[in-house]
Amino acid sequence: MTISSATARAHANIALAKYWGKASLEHNTPAVPSISLTLDALSTTTAVTFDSAMADDYVEVNGVLRSGEFRSRVCTMLDRIRLASGSSDRARVTSSNDFPTASGLASSASAFAALALASVKAAGLPWDSARISDLARRSSASAGRSIFGGFVRLRAGGTDDTFLAAEPLAPREHWDIDIVVAVVSEDPKKVGSTSCMIHTQNTSPYFEAWCGLCPVLASRIEHAIAHRDLDMLGQATEQSAFAMHASSMAAAPAVFYFEPATVAVLQAVQAMRRDGLCAYATMDAGPHVKVITQAPHTEKVVARLMDVVGVRRTLISSLGGPAVVLSE
Ligand code: PMV
Repeated sequence: MTISSATARAHANIALAKYWGKASLEHNTPAVPSISLTLDALSTTTAVTFDSAMADDYVEVNGVLRSGEFRSRVCTMLDRIRLASGSSDRARVTSSNDFPTASGLASSASAFAALALASVKAAGLPWDSARISDLARRSSASAGRSIFGGFVRLRAGGTDDTFLAAEPLAPREHWDIDIVVAVVSEDPKKVGSTSCMIHTQNTSPYFEAWCGLCPVLASRIEHAIAHRDLDMLGQATEQSAFAMHASSMAAAPAVFYFEPATVAVLQAVQAMRRDGLCAYATMDAGPHVKVITQAPHTEKVVARLMDVVGVRRTLISSLGGPAVVLSE
């Protein structure tokens, strides 16, 4: 009997320049470049044990045995590891998030990044971060970015690309930024990001315009990061999020993630700026609004967000570091 284990932790990330659309469904390569920041306050810790005595893979998240689609995505990644290592051992995977999973906030990014790192180490594969990022990216493109800390870029892929890894742009020490998440609903998300982006790609007349805009916004955001220009970063980040959502609203039928409180928060963020506060909004495939700000404005931004009707709570995060191995 052989047993080998490793435990890893990865942080969630938020895209400033959004990934939305696939160059290849088969290879899960993005149609557009994306840039993210890694979040210190939200992380997933995952332990993987390959055990020759096990008959099947076992997947547990926050103490609950998982079946269905999530389990099969985990098994697909484990199969890639088994193919690379020449072993057929099944694995026990136990994963936990340090943020509420049921709120629709849970991102697949930290989950698949932690799983990629833990399973590569448990299998004893001598892979570097780029190769681990590529493995994570195949399961969830945003997960490829969570292997690195600070500011991270994932280039657009081609239709035949088999290798595509995210790249670190700047470490978290480069720039002190805070992110405040305004949680507006505790319900699980209604439409998953994968199905919505494919639907948008297939039916929205705005998808082509979206693809044309993305490289422009990504290079503006890169420039803003390099020069620590928060106004430039914030304006381009807002445009990326709203153009992404506009492309999905123009799909047939339309998909929109906005709740009434989402709109109220977006208006509050504009009012904060008029009042001289530093605050810029972004949203992913859900109703919550993530606000980019900076000390000394963070506390005031939190207080203003908590005053918005429909905001249930806020989560505050600074920039996080790369995914790490906790034990092997
Ligand atoms: O990586 P996925 O398949 O969960 O898609 C992520 C999509 C967005 O969160 C909306 C944007 C992004 O770049 O993270």
